[in-house]
Amino acid sequence: MTRIDVLTLFPEMFQSPLNHSILKRAQDAGIVDIVLTNIRDFATDSYNKVDDKPYGGGPGMVMMSGPVFDCFEHVEKLAPEKGRVILLTPQGQKFDHSKAVELGKEERLILIAGRYEGFDERIRIGLDAEQISIGDYVLSGGELAAMVIIDAVVRLLAGALGDQDSPKDDTFSEGLLEYPQYTRPEVFRGMKVPDILMSGDHAKIDQWRRTQALERTKKYRPDLLKDHDS
Ligand code: 6GU
Repeated sequence: MTRIDVLTLFPEMFQSPLNHSILKRAQDAGIVDIVLTNIRDFATDSYNKVDDKPYGGGPGMVMMSGPVFDCFEHVEKLAPEKGRVILLTPQGQKFDHSKAVELGKEERLILIAGRYEGFDERIRIGLDAEQISIGDYVLSGGELAAMVIIDAVVRLLAGALGDQDSPKDDTFSEGLLEYPQYTRPEVFRGMKVPDILMSGDHAKIDQWRRTQALERTKKYRPDLLKDHDS
């Protein structure tokens, strides 16, 4: 079983995403154990302070090292595995499908979500943490990014999707966008399902889907083809 620890100031934000659909099923099935720990429980003053003004001046507040280190050291001991330590920050390496596959091979992930203007640099250095971003824009905190990463990683774990479902045809899994999909009815508002999909000829259907995937990628995401090798 994969274990994912999340250190956050807002554990309640995770309740809805973790308790629906595939993420819920994967936890119920014992495929993943997701454990939330509130960094604020490790504040040391009577105001439960976890952030402070930046040295050198400037806007905003910075996450303090003390509570994050204490929280981390507590969480580390909750399980024997070492864990891959990841700070969620817009300054990290950009998350993508291949990173999701890579993280899914780990026995344990320890995700640290920040708020405010950022983390005291000594958190990154002292915890020897890798930094991951989910894209080039700034979120109010790392929580939504952590949820995106958890969802993308867990759905790839063996058994997380139903028997018939498989992530192998997903967009990005072969470096291409997914082929177009249709379901009933056969004609909707004058738009008909392509005849080939009704033909029952599976070899032809596979070939059509490959061509469609390639054409759509050329049209909508030509940047993906630059590093595609077939
Ligand atoms: Cl991981 N955190 C924040 N605060 N903003 C982001 C992000 C992470 N990834 C993209 N923007």
